Amino acid sequence: MSKATVFATRELPAATRARLANYCDLEVWDGFLPPDYEVILNKVPALEGLLSLLTDRIDAALMDTGPKLKVISNMAVGFDNIDVAAASARNIPVGNTPGVLTETTADFAFALLMAVARRIPEAKQYILDGKWQTWHPTVLSGQDIFGATIGIVGFGRIGQAVARRTQGFGMRLLVNTEDNAEDVPEFGGENVALDDLLKESDFVSLHVPLTPDTQHLISEREFELMKPTAMLINTSRGGVVDLDALYEALRDGQILAAGLDVTEPEPLPVESPLLTLENCLVAPHIASASVATRTKMAEMAADNIIAGLTGDPLPTCVNPEIYDV
Ligand code: DGY
Repeated sequence: MSKATVFATRELPAATRARLANYCDLEVWDGFLPPDYEVILNKVPALEGLLSLLTDRIDAALMDTGPKLKVISNMAVGFDNIDVAAASARNIPVGNTPGVLTETTADFAFALLMAVARRIPEAKQYILDGKWQTWHPTVLSGQDIFGATIGIVGFGRIGQAVARRTQGFGMRLLVNTEDNAEDVPEFGGENVALDDLLKESDFVSLHVPLTPDTQHLISEREFELMKPTAMLINTSRGGVVDLDALYEALRDGQILAAGLDVTEPEPLPVESPLLTLENCLVAPHIASASVATRTKMAEMAADNIIAGLTGDPLPTCVNPEIYDV
């Protein structure tokens, strides 16, 4: 019997490829950049499995070209690149990789927070610019993290992992969430309205998925509510923050600084005015990028592919309701 055909839209660790090869004929896109939408579209008619990344748009039109498609497995916890409703309507299970990247992403959110608060990238630039002449009482003074108030927006796995880190810094914790609200007191936090969180927080860290409700959740009005000494950290999805409004808020001193791992669009063009600001630190969407975590994400994505091909429920499925039918 011929093996199922699977296309992976980017390189996978050798061990993951070898494991998948036991179950399917695997084609792996070897480009550094993602395949164009049309490339995926042309491949789908022959596929039983598609292993995608957050950079691939997987929509209804694409699914309609794949009569044999049994599984879509996204190597990411986020899945806003996939039309999940369309997949459900076609009875195609969609997998993601939750859990394994929680701590790594929370570490990075905290790394951004600390780098921005203590002005670490500016400090390096200061030395490179030949400005370090002496110890000076005020040069590169930043903001204290210990004892500050942090506002965490969204209280899923990653939001909670960031909350745990705040305890070691003696921070006051405010949360804005509808989900898992019952967990907030366990972290010594208080669940408050978003506007109150914005008004009171020294740091605002975003941990919500990108949905129509969270698109530009933080925009002009929200920056107006924030303290002039506040710092915004975003490791969720770029679309959650209106970057034009952020630029103006940072330029005009409405807030003090920002640390972003995600932007809209990605990549952020090098001409973006945000990159001209000393008080804006931008990273290229690397919060989950530890060797161990990325390896585990690939393994989980492979687990979902294998389950989908063999007709088993995906171990981590974002549309499990399809199995109820
Ligand atoms: C995800 O998995 O959704 C992350 O954004 C990857 O870093």
